[in-house]
Amino acid sequence: MGNPQTPFYFGAATSSHQVEGGNRFNDWWQWETEGRVREPSGPACSHYERFREDAGLAAELGHTAHRFSIEWSRVEPAEGDWNEEALEHYRSVILDLRARGLEPFVTLHHFTNPVWFVHKGAWESDQAAFYFGRFVKKVAGHLGEQVKYWITINEPMVYVYKSFLEGAWPPGKQSFSACMRVVRHLIYGHIEAYRIIHQHYQDHGFEKPWVSIAKHVIQFDPCRRDSKKDRLMTALRDWFFNHLYLQALTTGFLFFPGFFLEFLPVRDSLDFIGVNYYFRDFIRFERVKATDPFGEICDQKHHASEILETTQMGWQVRPEGLFQRLLALQKYGKPVVIAENGIATDDEDQRRRYITSHLQFTALAARQGVKILGFFYWSLLDNFEWDRGYGPKFGLITAGPGIAGRKIKQGAYVLTEMCRKLFTKAKEEVAHAS
Ligand code: BGC
Repeated sequence: MGNPQTPFYFGAATSSHQVEGGNRFNDWWQWETEGRVREPSGPACSHYERFREDAGLAAELGHTAHRFSIEWSRVEPAEGDWNEEALEHYRSVILDLRARGLEPFVTLHHFTNPVWFVHKGAWESDQAAFYFGRFVKKVAGHLGEQVKYWITINEPMVYVYKSFLEGAWPPGKQSFSACMRVVRHLIYGHIEAYRIIHQHYQDHGFEKPWVSIAKHVIQFDPCRRDSKKDRLMTALRDWFFNHLYLQALTTGFLFFPGFFLEFLPVRDSLDFIGVNYYFRDFIRFERVKATDPFGEICDQKHHASEILETTQMGWQVRPEGLFQRLLALQKYGKPVVIAENGIATDDEDQRRRYITSHLQFTALAARQGVKILGFFYWSLLDNFEWDRGYGPKFGLITAGPGIAGRKIKQGAYVLTEMCRKLFTKAKEEVAHAS
C-alpha cells in the first residue's frame, strides 16, 4: 500500500483547552465564567499535570504518534509577556512523547484565543496574522528542533461558523461580514505561520518541517424530500440550491469541504493536508440566509432507512463519506493525515465498529492512490466538548473533572489492531517483497 518509505503514524488527538484545565487567560474561560455554556471546563482532565501518565497510556495502547495543541494564552498570557515556564512545559511534553516512541503532531491554534488578543479585535483585526505569527515564531524558536509535524490552525471554518455565524462560541457574533474578515485573516495567519516555521528550520539547518491546517470536512448529501415539486418556483429553487449549490458544496468548491483550501496557495503553504471527518448530513435549502450558507440540515425522519447509526452528538455515522472526501482531496496531490475522526458514545461495540469502518475506508482510499500519512482518533481522553460540556464521551480513556483514575476503554484497542493490520503490515509486506 503506497511507498514503503512513507511513514504511517497513528494515535489519538487532544486540544489544550479541552484537557489541560485551568486555562484562565483565554476567551473560552471568559465565556464559561459568563455562564454561556452548560458547564465550565474547570480542571478538565488535569492533563497539564498528568501529561506523562496520559502519554504512557497512549504508548501502552501501541500508538506511534500523538496530536495535541499548545495553548497560546499560556505561552503569552499578556501581550508580549512570554511565559518561559509554559514553553518549558510543552518542551517536556514533546520530549516525553519522543522518549516513548510517539511522534508529536503539534497544533498551534485550536479554537481558543488569549483574552488580550480578543481585546485587540482577535481574528477580525488586520493585525491578527502579525500577532499569531509572533507567537508561532516564539514557539518554533523554542520547540522547533523537536517537532517535525505542525498544524497551524484547527478547523478554521468550524471556528468561523460557530463563532461568527451561529454565535454559539465566543465572541458569539452572527455577522456575515465579520465572518468573511475572519476567514481572510485566518488564511493570512496560516500563510504567515507556514512561512515562519519553514524559515526557522532553514536558518537553523533543521530537516524540512511538514506544516498544514486541519480541515473539517462533512459529507453533504442532498435531501430528496420533494413534496412541493408541483410549484414552478419551488422546483427551480430546488434545482438551483439542492442540486447546483449542493454539488458545489460536495465537490469541494464552496464553504466547508473546500472553501479554505481553495483560497490557499496549496502548493506553497501546505506540506500535507490534515483532515477532520466525523459525519454525513442531508441538507436542503428552504430559505437562503447569509448567516446560514449550508442550508438546513434536514430532519432525519424521512431518511430513516438510510441512517444506520447516530452518535451521542446526534451525528450520522457514514464511513463511506470519509472515503469520498479523501478521494476529493487527491486533486491537491499532497499526503493526507486524518487529524481527527472519532465517535461520542458509551457503547464500546459502537466505538469499535466506528473505528474499524473508518479505517477500512481510509485503507480503501489508500488503495485508490491517496497517500495516507497518518490517522488520529478523536480523542485520547473523554474531555470538555465545548458548548456541550462533559456529556459526550469521545475518549479512548475515561477522564474528566471528578474522575480520578484513568481507564482504557474496551473500544480503544481496535485502533492499534486495525492500523497495524491495514497500514503498517501492508508496508512491511511491500518492503519485504521489494
Ligand atoms: C474539534 C474538537 C471537537 C471534536 C468533536 C472537532 O471538530 O476539533 O475540538 O471536540 O470535533 O466535536
